[in-house]
Amino acid sequence: MKKTIIAANWKSNKTKSEAKNWLEQVAIADLPMNLEIIILPSFTLLDYVSSYIKVNGLPFRIGAQDISPFESGAYTGEISSSQIKEFADYVLIGHSERRTNFSEDKEMINKKIEKATTGELIPIVCISDLSQIDNFSSNKGIIIAYEPKGAISTSGPNAKAESPDLVSEFVKKIKERLSLEVIYGGSVDVSNVRQYLNLEDISGALVGGQSLEPKNFINLLKKC
Ligand code: PGA
Repeated sequence: MKKTIIAANWKSNKTKSEAKNWLEQVAIADLPMNLEIIILPSFTLLDYVSSYIKVNGLPFRIGAQDISPFESGAYTGEISSSQIKEFADYVLIGHSERRTNFSEDKEMINKKIEKATTGELIPIVCISDLSQIDNFSSNKGIIIAYEPKGAISTSGPNAKAESPDLVSEFVKKIKERLSLEVIYGGSVDVSNVRQYLNLEDISGALVGGQSLEPKNFINLLKKC
């Protein structure tokens, strides 16, 4: 049976000792078996989190939160696909915080997708409108994360999860164009996660704020 994807986007949070505490608590929780739990830590934590998971035999996967649009080489500050691949199997690309704060445009995002797929990383590409998939093809092995900007919990005082009906409509439109897996993100929490996972055509959820505290995340996972 296909597993439900739950990706924990830690964003620019957690020191090593905070990550250790999180892993220790989540590791001993009694979690559903049908989940593909993908932890998305900062680059600084990829080595530590992936080693911890290996040593302790935990059933979690790892992803980076971004990727260089270039190969390895003279690109100061960038992290290339081969550097990520040492620790991770997934990479988040085109999160709206990156599109907004770092002016990432379609061209940049396409380069990153290309680098991820040729580097054997599975891209989880965040989109908030359909034009952002204009030049995608279905054979790229991409996961789409539908995240309406205003639904992201930290997007402003009026941030609010998208209604499951609207998510369902949007996902149908994506699926008319592409046969790719789609997950939903934006203010997903323990009270609403089931509503999204119950939708036809939804393969999982991308969880930001509610993935940070182990207790919140464990409670959410138990509802999945
Ligand atoms: P949120 O973040 O769950 O805190 O809304 C989701 C995301 O931005 O990936």
